[in-house]
Amino acid sequence: MDHFKGGASFMDYFLSRFSPTEARTQNRLRELSADADRIFFLIYTPDDELIGHYALIVHNEKTVEVDNSILGARPPVSGLMLHTEHALLQWMFQNNPDAVVIANLLQHNVTCFMLHRATGFNLVATTSLRETVADNGDRILRPVKNENADKTDACLLTLELDSRAYWLVRKNAGYPC
Ligand SMILES: CC(C)(COP(=O)(O)OP(=O)(O)OC[C@H]1O[C@@H](n2cnc3c(N)ncnc32)[C@H](O)[C@@H]1OP(=O)(O)O)[C@@H](O)C(=O)NCCC(=O)NCCS
Repeated sequence: MDHFKGGASFMDYFLSRFSPTEARTQNRLRELSADADRIFFLIYTPDDELIGHYALIVHNEKTVEVDNSILGARPPVSGLMLHTEHALLQWMFQNNPDAVVIANLLQHNVTCFMLHRATGFNLVATTSLRETVADNGDRILRPVKNENADKTDACLLTLELDSRAYWLVRKNAGYPC
């Protein structure tokens, strides 16, 4: 639970920003685990400490999204999230070679951008976002309808990766194919 609540410090990298109380964190976890289209992976150290998570969302037979990766503590090996992303992409493309994997992230999330670039993702679209504040104080970034609007608060990057590009990057990075 603390690991997920620790997400508070990462809130600026997500579209919804809210105060992660224990109850809201539990609700969010319930919602995530009830979503039949989402495969949620938990990352443990050999000592059984939960240090991170990573999810795949199956949009349809062709499109899968990588989502919600968080590393909440120092891992026992260097490059753990890179190895994690490679392991999931390998598994995914072996089982569904025709899939296209997408990733959506905020432009200022440089570490996440670097992680996805290292596994071969390429930028395919950008979307301007504006923040709205709900009655309960939650702040949500939504796409700006008028692209000529002068005020935007953030920019969403959409990256894409197909199996052909992935296998090449994987081989060049020295991972077993
Ligand atoms: C995106 C993310 C998973 C990428 O992780 P990463 O590939 O390990 O890259 P980082 O630049 O964060 O990590 C740099 C180093 O700090 C370490 N590190 C990362 N998070 C850490 C933490 N919470 N505590 C201690 N060390 C940490 C990493 O292990 C890495 O060390 P290494 O070079 O020896 O492997 C990670 O930055 C993260 O959890 N970000 C916040 C949540 C987020 O933005 N998620 C994506 C939303 S789209």
